[in-house]
This record gives sequence, C-alpha cells and structure tokens, in this order.
Amino acid sequence: MEKVLIASFSQNGSTRKVADQIALGLGSSNCDVTQMSITENKSLDVKEYDIIGIGTPTYFFRPPFNIMDFVTNLRGLENKSTFVFILHGTNQGNCGNWIRKELNKKGSKDLGYFRSYGADYWIGYIKRGTMFSHSSPTTQELSSAEAFGRTIASRYKDKLPQVEEFDPPTPFMYGLERMFVSRPLAKMMYSKTFRADKNCDNCRICIKKCPIGNISENTNGKLKWQSKCLLCAACELSCPKDAIHSALDWVIFAPFMTYNISHSKNKKIPFVNVTHRKGKTVLT
Ligand SMILES: Cc1cc2nc3c(=O)[nH]c(=O)nc-3n(C[C@H](O)[C@H](O)[C@H](O)COP(=O)(O)O)c2cc1C
Repeated sequence: MEKVLIASFSQNGSTRKVADQIALGLGSSNCDVTQMSITENKSLDVKEYDIIGIGTPTYFFRPPFNIMDFVTNLRGLENKSTFVFILHGTNQGNCGNWIRKELNKKGSKDLGYFRSYGADYWIGYIKRGTMFSHSSPTTQELSSAEAFGRTIASRYKDKLPQVEEFDPPTPFMYGLERMFVSRPLAKMMYSKTFRADKNCDNCRICIKKCPIGNISENTNGKLKWQSKCLLCAACELSCPKDAIHSALDWVIFAPFMTYNISHSKNKKIPFVNVTHRKGKTVLT
C-alpha cells in the first residue's frame, strides 16, 4: 500500500475541500493517506512517504509565502513522486508552476497537477463589491478532484507519465501587481501598515483568524502585527467593527483592482455582487 502525504494550506476552506476529495480518490485506490495543514515555516523530512502532494490557494499570482517556505525547506524528496493542486479566483499566475519547478529541482518526479476555482475572498475585490468564483469548488470541480486522486494513484502504480502542462506565462499586468506585492515589500513596508483604530474593542477575532499567528497584543491590549504577514487580510475582513486598516486599502492598489475586476468580468470568470461590512460578506 502506497503511503501518501497531502500537505496543504487553506485560509477560507476551498483548498481544504479539494484536498479532502483528492484524499478520497487516493484512498479508494488503496493508498494510505495522511493529511497535514501547512501554517508556519517548518522543515519536514518526507522519507517515510512514497507520494507527496502540496495544495495551496494562489496569492498575488504566486504561492503564499508560508507555502514557498515550506516547499523550499522540504527534505528527502529525491526519487519521491509529487503532485500539486492549487485554487485560484481570477488568474493563477505562476503559483502552480513555481511549486512544481521547486519540487522538480529537489529531485522528485512530477505525478500530476490539478487546478480549480475557489471562492475568492480577496479584500480588494470584496471591498469593491465583487466576489469571484463564489460557488467554487463546485460539485463538479470536487468530483474532478476525486478523479485526480485516482489518476495519481494509477500513474504511480503503473508508472505512467504525468500529462498536465505547465501553466502559461503570467499576463503583464498581473506580473506587475505581483512585483508590487513582493516579499521584501510585504515584510519591510506593507506588514508595518496594519493598525486597529479606536473602534477596536479587543474582541481578538483578528488574532484567531490570522493563519500564521502574526498578530499579538501588547500589555496595554494594543494589537501588534509582526513581519511574517501573508497579506491575506483575513484580520481586516473579519473585524466586526471595521476597525483594521492597512496598506491594502491604499490608493496605489486601486488601478490593479479596477483592472483585474473589469478584465476578469470581460473574460466571463464567474462572479457575484457583494457588500462587506462589519466582518460579513453578503450577496446583494
Ligand atoms: C490574499 C489573497 C490573494 C489572492 N490572490 C489571487 C491571485 O493572485 N489570483 C487568483 O486567481 N486568486 C487569488 N486569490 C484567490 C484565492 O486563491 C482563492 O480564493 C482560493 O480559493 C482561496 O483558497 P482557500 O479558500 O483554501 O483559502 C487570492 C486570495 C487572497 C485571500
């Protein structure tokens, strides 16, 4: 029986749903599947597994920083088989390509690649009244994920080659936006701009929502953001008092958001109209 590790990160649940379906497909093909969730940068030796799957949402047309660190620090991949699955809203950029190339550099064999829409809780869109791929992953996308799990198992057992192509290059505007949200800028600049205003009542929801424990309280109960921020804005979106503000509200991001929204709507990427207030996103 093949031992499979599925390591994934999910902020809003879409990646988790797909991970569960892939695990189901692998399990029905007689594989022994372990799932782990990736939060912070941990070094992991995977030598006890035959197959390793990495799953992630797309953040800013690339993987989130915690996933990049996790993949970079993986040990023991020589002669292992790997697969990658990613979730995205409007455009995946080089998210999947980046992970697949890193895994290949570490000597693993690429067994397959799966991509699906996932509900897109990006603050820039939501605060402008649009939510992309709200209903994804759909029942159909989830059954494709399960089928992908079965395919991975049969490719491994029957030594079949993987067939999924790499994604096309990131369109220019999206590449530019990715540069604006690069890691050095996120660390040295944007992460320092998060603050809670006088409406904060210390409910601590933001602390609980932060996927990587980046928010703490000082002795006066004042919130402090450290520099490992993923810029997911889960804190800002979840605040029931709308008390959290950051660089992500800055006007420099407005042209990107406006472009992304109109470009994506023209490309008929599924979306719904929403309003967001006091930690709640509702359909209008
Ligand atoms: C901070 C942030 C950045 C995102 N950036 C992108 C992006 O560049 N391209 C894209 O297609 N989707 C993007 N998304 C959408 C997510 O990839 C998508 O919603 C995914 O399904 C979320 O997975 P989860 O529910 O497991 O957290 C972004 C979402 C967030 C929160």
